[in-house]
Amino acid sequence: MRILVTGGAGFIGSEYVRMLLGVPGGDASGVPVEDPAALTVLDKLTYSGNLANLAPVRDDPRLRFVRGDICDTALVDEVVPGHDVIVHFAAESHVDRSITGAAPFVTTNVLGTQTLLDAALRHGISRFVHVSTDEVYGSIDSGSWTEDWPLAPNSPYSASKAGSDLLALSYHRTHGLDVVVTRCSNNYGPYQFPEKVVPLFVTNLLDGGTVPLYGDGGNVRDWLHVHDHCRGVAMVQEKGRAGEVYHIGGGTELTNRQLTERLLAACGAGWDRVVPVTDRKGHDRRYSLDIGKISSELGYAPSIDLDRGLAETVRWYRDNRAWWEPLKTAGPE
Ligand SMILES: NC(=O)c1ccc[n+]([C@@H]2O[C@H](COP(=O)([O-])OP(=O)(O)OC[C@H]3O[C@@H](n4cnc5c(N)ncnc54)[C@H](O)[C@@H]3O)[C@@H](O)[C@H]2O)c1
Repeated sequence: MRILVTGGAGFIGSEYVRMLLGVPGGDASGVPVEDPAALTVLDKLTYSGNLANLAPVRDDPRLRFVRGDICDTALVDEVVPGHDVIVHFAAESHVDRSITGAAPFVTTNVLGTQTLLDAALRHGISRFVHVSTDEVYGSIDSGSWTEDWPLAPNSPYSASKAGSDLLALSYHRTHGLDVVVTRCSNNYGPYQFPEKVVPLFVTNLLDGGTVPLYGDGGNVRDWLHVHDHCRGVAMVQEKGRAGEVYHIGGGTELTNRQLTERLLAACGAGWDRVVPVTDRKGHDRRYSLDIGKISSELGYAPSIDLDRGLAETVRWYRDNRAWWEPLKTAGPE
């Protein structure tokens, strides 16, 4: 099996690569995908892409890294042939950035996905795994979304992801391309760029600083360890039914206030370090995924409980200052 991973130098894509290549000392248990014979990472290395994320597998002879843009048709046409499967993680991924500037979100998330889908079709790719988000459904006050729920995205980020999901599914229906779509909840874990809430809060706290809490802190998110997300993606890659959408969740809903309390405790800090800030524009109140389909069809269940996962994540940021300090001091682009 020869796999092309787009966005493989980012937070989740790099976990997928490390997992499939069986990072030395890493936990590859329960990973259902056969060892890849070759694995190519195609990544533009935007502000959130980082070759240091691939350092643990850098010397694996099966890994090839190509720096490039998924919107570059000529490059994509060169890179795609020779692969069996594309697992597509590359995206602009931060909601706040999409509020201040939507153009790169539409370009990468929509046009980039279409460029890859066309290349997949041209070069006879046998499976295209499109990685997406629960945010495409908007916000839900009670209950949980199933995969057939109508899409109602509220941010430019989630709207661009919804557009890419629909395009991916349309290539299955129109052209018969073997496409599967995954939608996951909020990921946390090592190697996450310190603009997202968990690494932002942890690194601020480890530096003795404060943390900004949006609005009343009552927004609810389901927290999923990145390794469990990647196990779910691997199951879908291996056994998911073509043309279908699969949810991948962590089964742990917390308000942002509750999450903040846990992070403060893990870092030995008190509530005096929290600074309330004006709420994000259009801030979705609650996300909640029903994971019954992937559980019953593919046997998925999250394996890392939140307490253990957060404790390990805080420890990782504590032990890996050399990874995140340069990213914080570089400041926003
Ligand atoms: N982080 C989450 O909690 C979360 C939740 C749900 C879904 N997702 C989805 O998972 C995927 C990965 O998210 P992440 O958190 O790892 O994001 P990330 O920002 O850490 O990584 C994105 C990667 O894509 C690369 N990239 C961006 N634009 C590119 C382009 N035009 N061409 C090639 N490479 C490009 C970046 O360099 C980076 O390495 C995304 O599709 C995102 O929508 C993430």
